[in-house]
Order: sequence, then C-alpha cells, then structure tokens
Amino acid sequence: MYLLPSTLVFLAAYTGTASAQTNFPPGVIATGTQGVTNPPKPTMGTAINQTSMARLLSVNSVDDFCLFAPPTMQNISDSETFEVAWCTKQRNNARLIPDGTLTGVSFIKTDAYVQVYGYGDFTRLNIPFGDFGGELDPHGALGDGNPIGGNVTSNITGSDQNFAEWMDYNQFCLRVCTTANSTYSAAAMCWHELDEMGCQFVMPGNYNFNNTFETCEAEVAYPPGWYPTATVDGTTSFSTFAQFFTGVGTDGVSYTVGDTVTPSAPFMTPSSSNCQTTSTISNGVALESLGITGASSGATASGPKATGAGTGKSYQTV
Ligand SMILES: *[C@@H]1O[C@H](CO)[C@@H](O)[C@H](O)[C@H]1NC(C)=O
Ligand SMILES: *[C@@H]1O[C@H](CO)[C@@H](O)[C@H](O)[C@H]1NC(C)=O
Ligand SMILES: *[C@@H]1O[C@H](CO)[C@@H](O)[C@H](O)[C@H]1NC(C)=O
Ligand SMILES: *[C@@H]1O[C@H](CO)[C@@H](O)[C@H](O)[C@H]1NC(C)=O
Ligand SMILES: *[C@@H]1O[C@H](CO)[C@@H](O)[C@H](O)[C@H]1NC(C)=O
Ligand SMILES: *[C@@H]1O[C@H](CO)[C@@H](O)[C@H](O)[C@H]1NC(C)=O
Repeated sequence: MYLLPSTLVFLAAYTGTASAQTNFPPGVIATGTQGVTNPPKPTMGTAINQTSMARLLSVNSVDDFCLFAPPTMQNISDSETFEVAWCTKQRNNARLIPDGTLTGVSFIKTDAYVQVYGYGDFTRLNIPFGDFGGELDPHGALGDGNPIGGNVTSNITGSDQNFAEWMDYNQFCLRVCTTANSTYSAAAMCWHELDEMGCQFVMPGNYNFNNTFETCEAEVAYPPGWYPTATVDGTTSFSTFAQFFTGVGTDGVSYTVGDTVTPSAPFMTPSSSNCQTTSTISNGVALESLGITGASSGATASGPKATGAGTGKSYQTV
C-alpha cells in the first residue's frame, strides 16, 4: 500500500507490428490491454483536446514524449490515481504540452532504459507552484497503476512497444526500462518505491541542462537504492536501501518498513556522452490564440495558485 506520493511503473501489452527487436527478456514487455481512456495504440496527429482523460504516454525522443499531470490544478499527491497524459506533440488523444512550458529537456539512451528529464513551468500542466510532486508507477495502491489505466510505449527499439516498467518523478524525470538481464530485472531498474528521494537519487545523471534540449547516450545507473558491496569471481553483490515509512494496515495494526538511515546519494552518477543539441522543441500550436490556456482550471502560466516549500521551483512527478 503506497500512501506516499507515488511513482509510475507499468504493465502493458505489446501492440507493435513489425519490430526491429522482437525478443525481449521476461518482465520487459507488458501483456494487457490499454487503459479504457486510451486509444488502442500510440497514434500521431490526434486532435487537440485539453480536456482529454487519455493516459497513454509515448517516450520516443527529446521532442516526442509525454508526461502525467493533473487534469485540473491540484497537488500531485491528491491526483496520482487520475492524472492524464500531456504530450509534446498531438498524439495518443492526449493533451498538448503548451509551447514554452519546457525550458530544458535531456533525453538519455542507455543499454537498459531510456530516460527523459526536464525543467519547466509546470503550473501550465495544472501542478501548483511549489508542489513537491510525487512518483507515479504502474502498480499503485490499488495494484492497477498510478494513474489507473496509465500506459507507456516507446519506439526506441525500432517500433512502438508497450513497456512494463517505467517511472516518473519530481521536476520531472521519467524512465522506461527497455531490457533486462540476470543482474538487473526491469522491475529493479525501474524500482518505484523511493518516492521521497527525488529525481537525482532515483535517476542520477547530468542535471545541468536547463535551457538546453539534448539527446545523449549514457552509462547505465545502478538500480535505484542498490549499492555494490563486493565482487567475487565476477559476480557483484549489492546492498539495497528501502525508504522508511510507517502506516496502518487494513487490520488497524501499525507497521514500520524500510531503513532508518537514508543514504545521501546514489552509489555513482552515470556520465552522458555524444550529446546532440536541438535548439528548442515546439509543436507550433498557438493554444492561446485558440482560446485555450495550458491549465484547464483557468489558471494562467503566470498565476501560481499556491506557494509550497519556497524553493522557487515547480516540481512534477507522475
Ligand atoms: C495498461 O496499464 C494497465 C494498468 O493500469 C495494465 O494492466 C495493462 O497491461 C497495460 N496495457 C498495456 C497495453 O500496456
Ligand atoms: C476530449 O476528451 C474527453 C475526455 O477524454 C472526451 O470525453 C471528449 O469526447 C474529447 N473531445 C473530443 C473533441 O475528442
Ligand atoms: C498541496 O500540498 C501542500 C503540502 O502538502 C499543502 O499544504 C496544500 O494545502 C496542498 N494544496 C492543495 C490544493 O491540496
Ligand atoms: C519513432 O517516432 C518518431 C516520431 O516521434 C519517428 O520520427 C520515428 O521514425 C519513429 N521510429 C520508429 C523506429 O518507428
Ligand atoms: C546486465 O546489464 C548491465 C548494464 O548494461 C551490465 O552492467 C551487466 O554486466 C549485465 N549483466 C549480465 C549478466 O550480462
Ligand atoms: C530553468 O531556466 C528558466 C529560464 O529559462 C528559469 O526560469 C528556471 O527557474 C530554471 N529552472 C531551474 C530549476 O533552475
């Protein structure tokens, strides 16, 4: 049971047709139907609909990806079960991220996952100014995903695939696990129960990219919360960190899980390489001239609704 702001990791069925990569390790490709608010498969060129409840993310490139954010202005922690997809392009029947929302994006390709992280003004996606966000995942308190019916595809392996494990955290960061091996399962590499640790712990990397749009290769990180301890005969052992929290079960009995000592940093920060810079990303749709503001509650980009921790940052987590 996750009462904390949550992460997104998901189970979805492969719906691609011809694929460049056809053999995926167990646990990587999801086997199910799309959520009921979603189109049956990722679709480009769908109509603008800023009241859409579709929850299908595609994570393909620095200028073609989607995020989860609230349908109306409200805290992530209050809306994680019904957040909706917002995409950089018109696709998936989803809402469109207004041009100018994102001030920097880094799209990272590794041998184990793709990851997209970014900075921006997420009040335009209905996230109150100062909200610390949360973590979305395909499991959730009800076992059917945060948000319920949320799904994720990527075409990074050569054709559209629905991936089983993905995660997305504050300010924002999103990982889609595209393979696995005997050392790291997709579930471990997209582990989603460290929702208070933040992007830089869960998805370490170069975060110094605001006001830049880039596509990079990168080393594979250790799975979130994993620390190598020893290597014997070529096999590495790990210690793992579990976030501490207390709760009350449905039987009314209090419980405590996790470690009381929280590590300050991941074991290492993977370095990026071969970065290609794009001047900016844009869908070219003048939403305002169509009478549509980014935030459907009527809030404007310049009108933060609430002040939070006073950090001056907007956080997004899906
Ligand atoms: C979509 O997400 C649901 C969980 O909400 C999951 O059960 C299902 O397998 C996913 N479907 C696809 C095609 O990924
Ligand atoms: C917009 O999305 C909403 C909710 O998903 C749906 O009810 C409505 O029909 C959509 N509008 C159009 C024009 O597709
Ligand atoms: C959002 O969360 C903050 C911090 O938990 C809380 O103080 C605030 O009242 C919440 N705002 C809304 C609109 O729920
Ligand atoms: C992935 O999607 C992008 C559109 O964002 C498209 O340009 C590209 O050709 C697609 N790649 C494959 C292999 O389908
Ligand atoms: C699994 O993949 C990781 C990351 O690519 C790699 O470091 C590790 O050696 C691989 N393990 C095996 C058994 O191939
Ligand atoms: C990113 O840069 C923009 C200016 O383009 C700035 O307003 C914003 O505060 C920066 N974000 C962070 C997290 O530093």
